[in-house]
Amino acid sequence: MTLENEINKHTIPQHIAIIMDGNGRWANLRGKTRLVGHQEGASSVDAIVTAAAELKIKFLTLYAFSTENWNRPPTEVSGLMELLVNALQKYTKKLVANNVRLLTIGDTKSLPKKTQEKLNETLEKTKHNTGLTLVLALSYSSRWEITEAFKKLAHDCCNNSISVDSITQETISKYLCTHDIPDPDLLIRTSGEYRISNFLLWQIAYAELYFSDVLWPDFKKEHLLEAIKDYQKRERRFGKTGEQIK
Ligand code: FPP
Repeated sequence: MTLENEINKHTIPQHIAIIMDGNGRWANLRGKTRLVGHQEGASSVDAIVTAAAELKIKFLTLYAFSTENWNRPPTEVSGLMELLVNALQKYTKKLVANNVRLLTIGDTKSLPKKTQEKLNETLEKTKHNTGLTLVLALSYSSRWEITEAFKKLAHDCCNNSISVDSITQETISKYLCTHDIPDPDLLIRTSGEYRISNFLLWQIAYAELYFSDVLWPDFKKEHLLEAIKDYQKRERRFGKTGEQIK
């Protein structure tokens, strides 16, 4: 039986989020520059987006560039921005053909103009697609997102658009970048690191966590299937007892 046949098609997670880690180490092991590692990482993005669309996953969120990544050496930052532009150039047609809709979360206004323009082009071209929604987290961090949400909410309270006593958890969710996106069911981190690194902290309250030792440039469809298979063995109790959810 192939790995794909071992997956229960009825309990596929509707939203998978991935912390793509290990590009630098992958390159280092091969005596290549970090940027080569990121280029190979972009091929894994293609492979995983294609696989997720085939598996009829509804949402895939990829941590492509964090707020903290701005502190990397300037050549790596500009290389990553260029890589993103090239990847959008190369894969937009495929996204359209595969009925994938692109969304972004994060402070995208801080990205270089060229990157913003390319992103906007792809957002526009894919906006009516109804299959997989691919969410790219760009210049994103949870604490940035939550701070922005607090600011907006405080403004809305001050100008009486909302009353303090009416604030619920749902209100807060609506003020986050992910307002129209369901919370992740499964969070994957590659490269054998066991951290969340400021990613979707509010949204992963009940996500299942899966850590893979595979470096991101080597992470392909079979590894995604392994993660889904593992997820399907878990009992999601959302604070209830095992008996209650049976
Ligand atoms: C983490 O590896 C990866 C990143 C900071 C960037 C992710 C970018 C890509 C996968 C490529 C392009 C993305 C798209 C959407 C086309 P690391 O550099 O921290 O690896 P290390 O921990 O081994 O140094």
